[in-house]
Amino acid sequence: MSNLITLNEFIMDRQADFTNATGELSRILNDIAVASKMVSRDVRKAGLVDHILGAHGATNVQGEEQQKLDVVADEQFIKAFRNGGEVCGIASEENDDFVAFESETAKNAKYVVLFDPLDGSSNIDVNVSIGTIFSIYKRTSAQGTLATEEDMLQVGTDQIAAGYVLYGSSTMLVYTTGKGVNGFTLDPSIGEFCLSHPNMKMPETGRMYAMNEGNIDICNPGIKKYTQYCQSFENDKGAPYSGRYIGSLVADFHRNMIKGGIYIYPDTTTSPEGKLRLLYECNPLAFIAEQAGGLASTGKERILDIKPTRLHQRVPLFIGSKQMVEKALSLLEY
Ligand code: AHG
Ligand code: MN
Ligand code: MN
Repeated sequence: MSNLITLNEFIMDRQADFTNATGELSRILNDIAVASKMVSRDVRKAGLVDHILGAHGATNVQGEEQQKLDVVADEQFIKAFRNGGEVCGIASEENDDFVAFESETAKNAKYVVLFDPLDGSSNIDVNVSIGTIFSIYKRTSAQGTLATEEDMLQVGTDQIAAGYVLYGSSTMLVYTTGKGVNGFTLDPSIGEFCLSHPNMKMPETGRMYAMNEGNIDICNPGIKKYTQYCQSFENDKGAPYSGRYIGSLVADFHRNMIKGGIYIYPDTTTSPEGKLRLLYECNPLAFIAEQAGGLASTGKERILDIKPTRLHQRVPLFIGSKQMVEKALSLLEY
């Protein structure tokens, strides 16, 4: 027998970390794992469905209308949360409004989940890594009632758990419940996520910076100074860093988690609030980054301290290795 630890076993072992744990959070994490395996399966055959099995995206071989993969993923996760019974409502990047589940079981549930079902979806068509990001909170409204918008608009420091799934060269699930970060790789031969990256720590510094440099002249001039620093022989490493930009936040973030690096998506003159969404992208990754020893800021304030005012609120994001984020922030001009 190997000493393989499956995600399920790991979640059950860790349940004891929480006083008064009744298993609901564990079951939500399990629902996420199951839904993400289904999404992973769909992602893996994306090219087949679009280009081989189906004609021009109209109908597939079963005669069902083909849907965009981000809608498929959205429905898969919503179904998992609706059927799971531990979640009273959800908010998703793909839906204009939040959804309050109406069953009695759901009304009595304690948690809400906020998620980006497919992050980096412009990369689907070109076979580049994409992901799912999620964030779990305890509701603030009374149990026994419908979930409210206030349940969704909680400050990031109140997250109970957060994580992401990366559909990359392998499928990985990484999550935190505020006691460190652990990563699991899907073994497709047994259909299980197995602990592959215990107690993940983001290196304090690294040699990779990620930003869409097409925006360099329409953002804070301090960012150009930072990229010039990255490219210079006079920087802390004495040699230019490498630029790496996948264009899937999850994938760029995951690389930086492992190798050390910074990811920047600033506010620009054309997107004055930035592009990334606080509730579905920035908060969950900020929680993970901090748990792994990294930092996440808007440039002006800690991401996790922002009190959200709108479901789809966007914020600028500087996230990654502590020393690199600190250096970038020190050059910003306000
Ligand atoms: P989504 O696919 O969920 O809309 O998110 C896309 C995000 C993020 O994943 C990525 O880093 C960024 O948009 C890329 O934006 P640019 O193409 O503007 O660089
Ligand atoms: Mn996204
Ligand atoms: Mn998305």
